Amino acid sequence: MNRAPRGTPAPAATPSRPSRPSGPSGPFDPAAPATTARPGTVLLGQGLTRAYHDRSVLHQVDLTVPHGQTVAILGPSGAGKSTLLRCLAGLEPLQEGTVAFQGALLSKAGSAPRPAGGRIGMVFQQFNLFPHLTAAQNVSLAPRKARGVRTAQADARARDLLARVGLAEHVDHYPYELSGGQQQRVAIARALAMDPELMLFDEPTSALDPEFTREVLAVMRDLADSGMTIVVVTHEMDFARRGADRVVFMADGRIVEDGPAEDVLTAPAKERTRRFLDQILSE
Ligand SMILES: Nc1ncnc2c1ncn2[C@@H]1O[C@H](COP(=O)(O)OP(=O)(O)O)[C@@H](O)[C@H]1O
Ligand SMILES: [Mg+2]
Repeated sequence: MNRAPRGTPAPAATPSRPSRPSGPSGPFDPAAPATTARPGTVLLGQGLTRAYHDRSVLHQVDLTVPHGQTVAILGPSGAGKSTLLRCLAGLEPLQEGTVAFQGALLSKAGSAPRPAGGRIGMVFQQFNLFPHLTAAQNVSLAPRKARGVRTAQADARARDLLARVGLAEHVDHYPYELSGGQQQRVAIARALAMDPELMLFDEPTSALDPEFTREVLAVMRDLADSGMTIVVVTHEMDFARRGADRVVFMADGRIVEDGPAEDVLTAPAKERTRRFLDQILSE
């Protein structure tokens, strides 16, 4: 489906970011050499190969993510979806290839990757909230510790973000007092607190009951509509169809098909994609 045109960056409510250390051992370095990415490209993975113990699980994968796009990655278990996401986030060393984020080199075969810090937000199937911290404290922690934002300011922002994900009533609750869906929304607010320019979701609803799945997907739709650039690994076909601009189908460590969501889902060009979709739809 067509949504309002994207491309308007969400207003940066960024508290002043302390300058980052530079150099090869530092984190993401905005001054690193520019890449061949077209303007408007947020993330560019080229020739990504990742092997574990000499077994290659990603083979020469290329993926370009333009600003404001929502990309759904589908594929069977073991296809390499999580590995791809971690490589794109600069969390995995590469055997071949490069990842550029916002035009600067994030990761390159042969050197240690430089994680982008909060500029790439990640949300996993497991929420991993700190159990001894309230929702607001979970959300304000990283801005305080990693960015030096003052407690009062970080707390106010955390409350705003929690309200944005529908948790205004739960800001002072501990994780054990929250449902899985609420905890996952806290995890999303926590990622947003670092003002990411890209959000990566790895099966964010796989651990949730259907009623909670819906509320998490609704938050993701809102984020997408606000102009956030999103890459999401999901098995939620409705979300892929209605919430994503583009679908990437992966199998055996390769991208098999990559195109507009509607095309890939309703008229897949490849037999492998068709088989996967038939199987998922018959479940
Ligand atoms: N840390 C690891 N060590 C060894 N093998 C791994 C590791 N992580 C993933 N793999 C293997 O890589 C392949 C792709 O895994 P993964 O990226 O998790 O797939 P998906 O997310 O599509 O299910 C699988 O065969 C998996 O067993
Ligand atoms: Mg996975």
